[in-house]
Amino acid sequence: MNSMTIAIDGPAAAGKSTVAKMVAEKLSYIYVDTGAMYRALTWKAIQEGIALEDEEKLETLLKERDLKLVQSEKGQLVMLDGQDVSEAIRTDEVTNQVSIVAKHQKVRVEMVKRQQELVKEQGVVMDGRDIGTHVLPDAEVKIFMIASVEERAERRYKENVEKGFDADLEKLKEEIRKRDEIDSNRSVSPLVKADDAIELDTTSLTIDQVVEKIIGVVRKAEEKGV
Ligand code: CDP
Ligand code: CDP
Repeated sequence: MNSMTIAIDGPAAAGKSTVAKMVAEKLSYIYVDTGAMYRALTWKAIQEGIALEDEEKLETLLKERDLKLVQSEKGQLVMLDGQDVSEAIRTDEVTNQVSIVAKHQKVRVEMVKRQQELVKEQGVVMDGRDIGTHVLPDAEVKIFMIASVEERAERRYKENVEKGFDADLEKLKEEIRKRDEIDSNRSVSPLVKADDAIELDTTSLTIDQVVEKIIGVVRKAEEKGV
């Protein structure tokens, strides 16, 4: 079987995107970062001065703008109205407000539709919060990746230090906790493990170990001819 769909969900900084990208590369699948789509909408709404609680305006903004995930040599690019915003959507300002935008039902309906359209013939690894539960409920492999909040904050801290950014471990911990809380308690498709997902605690695992474990699950699914 060469066109499996692999859903990877879990809380912030559990390692989803790093690992999903590597798994996709190993399997020659495409990688889809759904969080980037919510981030791009949040970035644009902030730029346009749209209140992030205004569901109707956000829905209109999303439908009017040309938001695309483009597969390139450099990996996935996030394009908004023809502009590459892949980097711009990673600021703290966006990170700390994206969960407010992602709460809205009308926004999610439109996002999910677009994410499902990205699954064609080729195999896909998609990461997010509701992939196994809502976007790809029939995915052949579902992983729910977790790690302690201390470990996740530590990872983000290291990442910031490496990039030469200011970093405050306690603040990062608090921000991660807050985002997890909003994502887990929203009424529309909250962050929750799908019943048929495999939970993978990455707290004391290296990136390579996590990748290996997922590839192992994929190989088993292939053998079973899922
Ligand atoms: O990589 P990081 O954990 O910082 O987050 P992300 O994957 O970029 O997602 C940013 C935010 O988008 C999440 O905190 C959720 O609020 C939202 N999101 C979502 O609601 N559903 C998804 N499928 C993906 C992201
Ligand atoms: O996508 P998500 O927010 O779940 O996490 P990420 O951005 O892929 O990973 C957050 C940070 O943790 C990155 O700097 C990864 O290199 C690091 N990481 C790690 O140290 N050990 C792992 N097992 C997985 C990720």
